[in-house]
Amino acid sequence: MASTHGAEVLVASNRGPVSYETGEDGSLRAKRGGGGLVSGLSAIGPETNAVWVCAALGDGDRAAVRRAEGGLLPEADTGGQRVRMLDIDPEVFAAAYNGIANSVLWFVHHMLYQTPLEPVFDAEFRRQWAAYEAYNQAFAKALAEEAGDGAAVLIQDYHLALAPRMLRRLRPDLRIGHFSHTPWAPAEYFRLLPDDIAAELLTGILGADRAAFLTRRWADAFTECCHAVLGPGIPAGTRIGVHGLGADADFLRERSHRPDVAERMAALRAEIGEGRRTIVRVDRTELSKNIVRGLLAYRQLLDEHPEWREKVVHVAFAYPSRQDLAVYRDYTAQVRRVAEEINSAYGTPGWIPVVLHVKDDFARSLAAYRLADVALVNPIRDGMNLVAKEVPVVSDEGCALVLSREAGAHEEMGEDALTVNPYDITGTAETLHTALTMPAAERAERSKRLAAAGTALPPARWFLDQLHALDDQSS
Ligand code: G6P
Repeated sequence: MASTHGAEVLVASNRGPVSYETGEDGSLRAKRGGGGLVSGLSAIGPETNAVWVCAALGDGDRAAVRRAEGGLLPEADTGGQRVRMLDIDPEVFAAAYNGIANSVLWFVHHMLYQTPLEPVFDAEFRRQWAAYEAYNQAFAKALAEEAGDGAAVLIQDYHLALAPRMLRRLRPDLRIGHFSHTPWAPAEYFRLLPDDIAAELLTGILGADRAAFLTRRWADAFTECCHAVLGPGIPAGTRIGVHGLGADADFLRERSHRPDVAERMAALRAEIGEGRRTIVRVDRTELSKNIVRGLLAYRQLLDEHPEWREKVVHVAFAYPSRQDLAVYRDYTAQVRRVAEEINSAYGTPGWIPVVLHVKDDFARSLAAYRLADVALVNPIRDGMNLVAKEVPVVSDEGCALVLSREAGAHEEMGEDALTVNPYDITGTAETLHTALTMPAAERAERSKRLAAAGTALPPARWFLDQLHALDDQSS
């Protein structure tokens, strides 16, 4: 249903701030998410008329949309936020989200293809691409309907690369920003895409007044792609910005000292065993997070430095993600397999070398952060990586951070982290050893500086800066 609410500020993202599960009796249960956009939007205050446009991701969401009056979800479900959820045809949505966004664009920007056999850009790809266009058009249309005169629209991520230009055509009066939460591919890799598709993606984003990225490195890669694909001089008219999203220190400190976290700490301590050191990682089970190589490096540590056997535990939380894609299901199975192999090869009656949990539990993640002696963040490539910024804020005794140089966070935190090449297992194993042997005082000092760097741009500031930059022609 079309509805016009004359919004002054609009956010558009594939995943919204709330999702719905259907109970056996047909009742709907709303589950609210967190993240930078949620804090950002609450920071602009209730006096600003703001609307968040997102997609229905599953059947529960679709049922909620059908019940929503005037196109907006009940504010009781959204924490007071005005949310318009789009019920896009399920086949169109699946082709756009699983087919193009997560199997092509995510793979390109994170450089995940095994190139001897993939990618294959054939007729099926073209069919999915048409769905991606339709999906972007649905967002552009909804935004055009919801936006008041001259409103500011902040469009998020690779799912919505075409929407800025489409929206510009419908509503030339709007101020449009696009923000990429992922890395941006180097030009040589981006040019794996068919030339016309590469050009569409770039000109789609260039339809915005401002295209922004998490780090200078990703912003420069975007500009290089524009030059390589569209020609020199481009992007003309679109400003390029950098906003390095940070962790929310106040929220994390308060939330990590609630009773449910203390309970989880006691349970984890029992699993880890008395007096042992911990190497902690918390991720979605995501191909780019490099969880398997992290486990291999840990195994090599136990081989090369047998003095650590029975003295350290690798606490690895790998939460379900994108399980509609076979490659993600296979990867999840591989993570489990390698963890089990390590446990059966090295474990002793009183010691489980790898404590792996695959069920999402935020309180337990915070408990692990608090217990961490070492945080392992070794992605193949990552737009930012907030775990790297969160653990130093929360850890009780201060932690040593082993950080991939390919994570955006490395640009801000490289000085006090221990840097690794994510492909180098031997190097990562040695760095884990260095991290475990770092003197307590040095670890605490570095951790303090890491926490300061990681919280320099909290989510509310990050969001408001983008909004102000849209007004300011010089930024
Ligand atoms: C990344 C993307 C987000 C996405 C998130 C979770 O952080 O930048 O846009 O929402 O991953 O992935 P999912 O596919 O579950 O939304």
